[in-house]
Amino acid sequence: MADALRIGIAGLGTVGSSVVRMLGDKGHELTRLCGREIAPVAVSARDRTRDRGIELGNAQWFDDPVALARSSEIEVFVELIGGEDGPALASVSAALEAGHHVVTANKALLSKHGVELAAIAEQNGVLLNYEAAVAGGIPVIKTMREALAGNQVNRVFGIMNGTCNYILTRMEAEKLSFEDCLKDAQELGYAEADPTFDIEGHDTAHKLSILTSIAFGCRISADDIYMEGISNITQADIKAASELGYRIKLLGVAQKTDSGIEQRVHPTMVPVSSVIAQVHGVTNAVAIETDMLGELLLSGPGAGGDATASAVIGDIADIAKSRPGFQHGPVFGWPAKDLAPYKRARMRAHAGGYFIRLTVHDRIGVFADIARRMAENDISLESIVQHGDADEAAHKTVVLVTHETTEAAVRRAVDSITKDGHLTTKPQVIRIERVA
Ligand code: HSE
Repeated sequence: MADALRIGIAGLGTVGSSVVRMLGDKGHELTRLCGREIAPVAVSARDRTRDRGIELGNAQWFDDPVALARSSEIEVFVELIGGEDGPALASVSAALEAGHHVVTANKALLSKHGVELAAIAEQNGVLLNYEAAVAGGIPVIKTMREALAGNQVNRVFGIMNGTCNYILTRMEAEKLSFEDCLKDAQELGYAEADPTFDIEGHDTAHKLSILTSIAFGCRISADDIYMEGISNITQADIKAASELGYRIKLLGVAQKTDSGIEQRVHPTMVPVSSVIAQVHGVTNAVAIETDMLGELLLSGPGAGGDATASAVIGDIADIAKSRPGFQHGPVFGWPAKDLAPYKRARMRAHAGGYFIRLTVHDRIGVFADIARRMAENDISLESIVQHGDADEAAHKTVVLVTHETTEAAVRRAVDSITKDGHLTTKPQVIRIERVA
């Protein structure tokens, strides 16, 4: 115990409990691997009396996570509280200021305060490790920050929210409703405390903003992310996508363009034959496109207690293995003080293919008007198909797939079609992503 790495864990929810359990179950192997024991000597959580089914041994209990973060009894503070401000921010700042290493799974915190926290860590010569914050158990941070150091990243994209991928997978495979699938995801412990964070894209945006900073050496800017969630994806979209050879995934995409960096989170059509289309259920996948490698795809469990705990324990083990005097690399791969200001590309300049599903009145000239509006905006069509809706004889569905065009052109064309008075419901527009 003399040379043990003394850690304090704040937050004993799904992930925190899993970390404590794994440290207990794997203590012997971890000690061999790291050359020293990892000892959870202190914990903090909201409810001291709750039975979590874990063994806390003699760990000292702190009601206040900030007091734990400052305690001289620990060398590493593990933040698993969650939330972008409040106790998570206060305790992580306090730990770094006190010269303690920090391990966190908190993407919301890093997305908002990551650069300032990284600056404190770098100034104080301590580590701020956060592998668990992006894509659960997939080691994407270490891969991008360390293994790909010699590469220039052109685009990073992926499925980074297990809850959304789980919902879309089951909606397609079992024709279940969105609500039923969401309920199951919550019961399985994948979803955030407030599941709108998952389904409206915020969780993916937080994760994407962190990857963007590592990829392009810029300051984190989650507020500059274009965001659409999956709550308006219907069985009609899923069916039309499948008939056209596509599958719908919620992707986060960060890409360098001539006008700046594009960061977007939205439901996306990917070809059914693509690798990313085969990523099902709670599994996440992150693709990194670089000058030296082409496309590298990492996939694995992206949510859930054990998957996230795996990344947390990896981060703790890295600290246990490091020795005093060892120079730590910068938190986001580039020194925090040198991160460039973020330059946002305009979403209207986004170039790509589009899927457009319109529900229209069944009358003469509608089809021709739609085609004309597309032509007026220089939009070339790959296909245009009309279906009769079985349940409503007076309505027809028109599905268009465009060749590469711009967001601005599509928005103009769809606005004109809406003003023409042909639509019976809101148009559905889903971007198509070029993937391997
Ligand atoms: N709610 C998240 C997800 C958990 O569904 O992926 C991991 O961040």
